[in-house]
Amino acid sequence: MSTNEQKYQSGFGNEFATEAIAGVLPAGQNSPQRVAHGLYAEQLSGSAFTAPRHTNRRSWLYRIRPAAMHQPFKPLAHATFHNRFHEAPATPNQLRWDPWPMPAQPTDFVDGLVTLAGNGSAAEQAGCGIHIYAANRSMQGRFFYDADGELLIVPQQGRLRLATELGVLDIKPLEVAVVPRGVRFRVELLDAEARGYVAENFGSLLRLPDLGPIGANSMALPRDFLTPHAAYEDVEGDFELINKFQGALWSARIDHSPLNVVAWHGNYAPYKYDLTRFNTVGSISVDHPDPSIFTVLTSPSDTPGTANVDFVIFPPRWLVAEHTFRPPYFHRNVASEFMGLIEGAYDAKAGGFVPGGSSLHNCMSGHGPDESSFEKASAADVSKPDHITGTMAFMFETRKVIHPTQQALDAPQLQHDYYQCWQSIKKRFNPERA
Ligand SMILES: [Fe+2]
Repeated sequence: MSTNEQKYQSGFGNEFATEAIAGVLPAGQNSPQRVAHGLYAEQLSGSAFTAPRHTNRRSWLYRIRPAAMHQPFKPLAHATFHNRFHEAPATPNQLRWDPWPMPAQPTDFVDGLVTLAGNGSAAEQAGCGIHIYAANRSMQGRFFYDADGELLIVPQQGRLRLATELGVLDIKPLEVAVVPRGVRFRVELLDAEARGYVAENFGSLLRLPDLGPIGANSMALPRDFLTPHAAYEDVEGDFELINKFQGALWSARIDHSPLNVVAWHGNYAPYKYDLTRFNTVGSISVDHPDPSIFTVLTSPSDTPGTANVDFVIFPPRWLVAEHTFRPPYFHRNVASEFMGLIEGAYDAKAGGFVPGGSSLHNCMSGHGPDESSFEKASAADVSKPDHITGTMAFMFETRKVIHPTQQALDAPQLQHDYYQCWQSIKKRFNPERA
């Protein structure tokens, strides 16, 4: 397996043009009568044909064989990867899980997907699936695409190579990648084991948040988003094409690699982003802004300012606010919050939330710092800055209640004593004291 450095095109939602063989892309048109080198022209539409220009996403692919060419799909059983979000009642309890274990048997990315939670559905084109992956081998002779949503992949351990129709992306922990809905890909492991999180976005495509009064810069910068150059495989054999369609998996035989796009142009393509590039904005006086200030990508809903799902990070940063309780404050939220931890410690918890773990705080469920974190922060010297380092937590925040799956509630990783972290919080009220 090659571990060569991949080369990328920079920009978010740009009109890219890339050729693995020079001269393939037709000039002045998309679908000429004959494409160079006997290739087929094919459009891949990621938005409605008539979507407004600023949200319109499509690419033209010039490929060895069209995507239509495969045997019929048959249902494919998968014990743990699905969109059955209503097997168990949605719970208002605060939930937290230990890291999912690495597989004991040979397991690739698709086999290693476990659905923890979700809301909405592919059918209603709203909501998201929240999954964990844990794998110890590359996908071999099989390819995957998700017809239900785009996949935001958040590695926590181990590097991945995403070989997609539109080129190859290498990602490692502290980087994330988005594979658009419908794009076929193979996941190769560049280390012995890999684990991470996946948000499967059924709603509108992830995009950069508006910046409002922040101005034209800060937060995630468009030029830090990287899209691959065209790369193709001209390979024939007996392969499997797996498709996630309306919440279930399907499998078809295919006699060639579907990663056979020699050139493409357009603005619907996979991309990756290095979370350490995030230009973090915060308070320089008192208090701190709501965590929306840490939004990397957002999938807007039909209601202005109310996201279908936001991808939010809690990166290393300086805390300088004076006479302020500096960790995340106690709060309740109309939105629902699923959190994961890529590395380090999260500053609102003294323990229990470890890299690879997860937590869920649903609509209006109270949460915030545990007793020891509160004690420490309320007694801290805030005349000096704090430097939060070596950490990266993230949140999938969604407007709809997040339903944990039955398997997530039954899992031995569920911490049944999580609520205890708030039970020792003391009554401090004394009307006689200032
Ligand atoms: Fe929260």
